[in-house]
Amino acid sequence: RAEADPLRPRFHFVSPAGWLNDPNGVCQWNGVYHLFYQYNPEGAFHHRIHWGHATSLDLVTWTDQPVALEPSPGPDADGCWSGVLVDDGGTPTLVYSGRLDERELPCVAVGSGDLSTWTKAPQNPVISAPPAGVDITAYRDHCVWREGSRWRQLVGSGIRGRGGTAFLYESADLRSWDYVGPLLIGDASQGDPAGTDWTGTMWECVDLFRAGAGSLGSVPADGSPDVLVFSAWNDGDTRHPLYWTGRYAGDSFEPSALHRLDYGGRYFYAPQSFLDVAGRRIMFGWLQEGRSDAAMVEAGWSGVMSLPRVVTVAGDGTLAFAPVPGLAALRRNHVGLPARVLVGLGLLETGVQGNQLDLELDVQLEPGAVLRLGVLGSADGAEETVIELSRARGGAAGGEGQCVLRLDRTRSSLAPAGGGEAAVDVEEKSGPVPLRDGKVHLRVLVDRSAVEIFANGKPLTARVYPTLGGGRVTLSAPEGTVRLLDFDAWTMADIWGGPRTLFP
Ligand code: FRU
Repeated sequence: RAEADPLRPRFHFVSPAGWLNDPNGVCQWNGVYHLFYQYNPEGAFHHRIHWGHATSLDLVTWTDQPVALEPSPGPDADGCWSGVLVDDGGTPTLVYSGRLDERELPCVAVGSGDLSTWTKAPQNPVISAPPAGVDITAYRDHCVWREGSRWRQLVGSGIRGRGGTAFLYESADLRSWDYVGPLLIGDASQGDPAGTDWTGTMWECVDLFRAGAGSLGSVPADGSPDVLVFSAWNDGDTRHPLYWTGRYAGDSFEPSALHRLDYGGRYFYAPQSFLDVAGRRIMFGWLQEGRSDAAMVEAGWSGVMSLPRVVTVAGDGTLAFAPVPGLAALRRNHVGLPARVLVGLGLLETGVQGNQLDLELDVQLEPGAVLRLGVLGSADGAEETVIELSRARGGAAGGEGQCVLRLDRTRSSLAPAGGGEAAVDVEEKSGPVPLRDGKVHLRVLVDRSAVEIFANGKPLTARVYPTLGGGRVTLSAPEGTVRLLDFDAWTMADIWGGPRTLFP
């Protein structure tokens, strides 16, 4: 059933069927890339979570592997929630959240050399309770690293009445842990709980790493920042990934600035990253659905894994993201457009057509200019997803150095926007993009219901649910002067050939 859904992506990783959420245990082990993921094989709803597993040699095509972890009587009887993989002197070892009776505690499992079978540690749970005397909102998800002769671990949490936090622990053997203290405590009273930079009442999926040269705990020769990624959680729907740049030293993290990780907010949630042997930091995130629970169950599948992203440090010290270069292997049917100046342009038919596309544009925006790129358009124009870049007029604050990237989904789907089971989310997404010489490099990957946009390294990810099956690509420049310097488009090949085997 899932395979018959025209909205199911064809070059993103999706689970064989059923439910997928967070990426887990992402790594490269003996040359093979491994992606584990939060998985419910029973149906497209979140319940009794297993760890699904897939492998890849190129981060582009994937081979399904049998389920890696499943709940069993004991501390993970109600689910094996998010966690990470570490190399314990040659032994692959998972640290994950075992769920029992509506709470989670850290558990450990030891893997076979091919990472396919896992044995749960008899010591589970390896931490028997959250820190005593702290009124916590939740306690789960892990980040584990080696520092000198010891292991260190962060567990995501929140302190009631204060904000999200990550508790720091230390261990010699991954089985017995000493509590050190909170690494950093957020302030949930600052900002708007519905706003895009609210730091939340709980931090899910904390991920601490050195971006650039060196490793955690060392003094960086070149000023490379340490980065603390977390998914700010609240009861509503405004969950989103954020990160602090700053310095991790001793037992704390000294933050310098807070940043939005992806302007799509909850559509790139619970990211996790790792360093591959080439020294690249690769990040995955969960592209959750924007349709109703009933529609997911009906479709038979839910959740898309992002394309793997290479994370680098931009000139201004923030993170920059780009899809892995290897994706170029899927490109087919190149279409290029000559450079031209777009002024007061109503609509330019690019001639590009398809719902699996890779688009790469270089544009220059004069002050006051607006560029619109329409994708997934129906022949009559009734349905269309619009990506907009706009630059403020004159030298107003932010006008010189940046533009705004905006995703307009109000016409993405004829499915009704308000109420009812057919409703889909059409909330506008936007964020600032630094201009380089007035220029933006815009990369747009369209995969049926998944859209990943990168504008000068700033990502905006979302889901759309077109009903008419259109694939028209148009350009317009309704205001000001836009120079189209480069335009290249490709259709993207399927990575999923035959039917998928269902595991277990
Ligand atoms: C994030 C999350 C994690 C948890 C897992 C459960 O999306 O809620 O906090 O471990 O998903 O599936």
